[in-house]
Amino acid sequence: MVKRKIRFGVIGLGLMGREFGSAVARWMHLLDLDFVPVITAICDTNERLFDWFTDNFNTITVKSTNYHDLLSSSDVDAVYCAVPHNLHQQLYIDSIQAGKHLLGEKPFGIDLNANSAIMNAVNSHPDLLVRCSSEFPFYPGAHRVIEAIRQNPFGKIIEVEAGFLHSSDINPDKAINWKRMIAINGEYGCMGDLGLHVLHIPLRFGWMPANVRALLNNIVTERFDNTGAKVPCETWDNATLACEVKHEDYGAFPMTLKTYRIAPGETNTWYIKIFGTNFSIQYSTRYPKSLYTMEYHAGGKQVWSEESLGYSSAYPTISGGIFEFGLSDSILQMWAAFCDELVHGREDMQQAFYCATPYETAEHHRILMAALHSQRDQAVIRI
Ligand SMILES: NC(=O)c1ccc[n+]([C@@H]2O[C@H](COP(=O)([O-])OP(=O)(O)OC[C@H]3O[C@@H](n4cnc5c(N)ncnc54)[C@H](O)[C@@H]3O)[C@@H](O)[C@H]2O)c1
Repeated sequence: MVKRKIRFGVIGLGLMGREFGSAVARWMHLLDLDFVPVITAICDTNERLFDWFTDNFNTITVKSTNYHDLLSSSDVDAVYCAVPHNLHQQLYIDSIQAGKHLLGEKPFGIDLNANSAIMNAVNSHPDLLVRCSSEFPFYPGAHRVIEAIRQNPFGKIIEVEAGFLHSSDINPDKAINWKRMIAINGEYGCMGDLGLHVLHIPLRFGWMPANVRALLNNIVTERFDNTGAKVPCETWDNATLACEVKHEDYGAFPMTLKTYRIAPGETNTWYIKIFGTNFSIQYSTRYPKSLYTMEYHAGGKQVWSEESLGYSSAYPTISGGIFEFGLSDSILQMWAAFCDELVHGREDMQQAFYCATPYETAEHHRILMAALHSQRDQAVIRI
C-alpha cells in the first residue's frame, strides 16, 4: 500500500517529545493505515536532547535550538509542540502562521488570554488541522464509555465523576521544576496540567458546566530548588470542582472533577464514572483491563459486572485481542487519529473519535478561570 508521508517537526524534545518519537518508531504496530508520520525536524533549546532523536531516526534534516529554523523548513508539514505552558501562545501561533498543521500540548495556552490569542490564529487558518493532545479517551475502556454516552442508556444521569490523580508530589524532598512555578506552568496549577485530560470526554458531548464551586489546595508550599535552597512552591496541588451540567439530551446532573497531584498511592490514574438510574459505567486506568457496568431494572438486583477488556483499540493493531493496552498504546492511537483526520478529514476518518479541538480547549479554560474565581471568592461561579 502506498502510504502518504506526513513530515513532522518536533519542538520540545523532553518527556512528551520522546513519546511522540516512540509512537513514530512503532507505527508498524498499526494495521492498514494509508499514512505514516516521519520526523524530519527537531528543535529544543537543550542540545543534549538531539542525540536520542538522531540516533533513532535517519530522516531528520533540520536540527536546531531555534524553532524558527524548523518552521521555515519546506521539509515540515506538521508540528508537534511539547514545551512549557508559558511558551504555548507564541510557539503555537508562530507554527500556525507558518502554515503548519499542529498538535499542541495542553493546556493550549498558559491562561485564558493566551488561549484566546491562539484561537484567533486557529480561526484565521481554517485550512490547517490544529488539535490538542489528550490520549486517555483512546484507552479501550474509555472508548467503551464514549460509546455508552453516544447510545445514552443511562435513564436519568445521577452523577458524573471524572479525575486524574498523581502522587509523586507527596514527597516533600522532590525538587521544584517548571510544573510547580506559576510563571511557567500558570496560575491554574494542577488544573492546567491535568484538566483537559479530565474534561475531554465531557466537553465532547456538550457537558459544559453551567456553574462551578472549586476547592483548591496547596499542600506542599515550599520545595528545594537545584541549588538546595528552599523556595516557595505556589501552584495548586489538588483541585476538586463541583459542577452542575444542564444538557438538552442528557438532563441536569452534578459533575465532580478532580485533578490531584497529591493523591496518596496514585501514579497516573485517569478515570470516568457515569451513574444513571437505568445504567452506570465506570473505567479507571488504575485497573486498565476492567470495565465496570451495571444495568438496573425497577425492583431488580443491583449488580456491577466486570468485563476484562483486551486490546480492542480504535485503530486495529498487530496485538492479539486478549493482550493488555497501556499509556504508550493510547498515545499511538491518538496520533493515528490526528494523522487520520489530517489526511482524510473529520467525516472520512476510519473511526469517529477525533483529538481534542481548540474550541474544546477554550471551553476548558473558561471552566478553569471560573474555578480560580470560585476559590478566591469562596463562591459558586456561573460559567
Ligand atoms: N499528554 C500528556 O499526557 C502530557 C504529559 C506530560 C506533559 N504534557 C504537556 O507537554 C508539554 C511539555 O511537557 P513535558 O513534560 O514534555 O516537559 P519537559 O520539560 O520534559 O520538556 C519540555 C522541553 O521543551 C524544551 N524547551 C523549552 N523552551 C524551548 C524553546 N524555546 N524552544 C524549544 N524547546 C524548548 C525544554 O528544553 C524541554 O526539553 C506541556 O504542555 C505539558 O503540559 C502532556
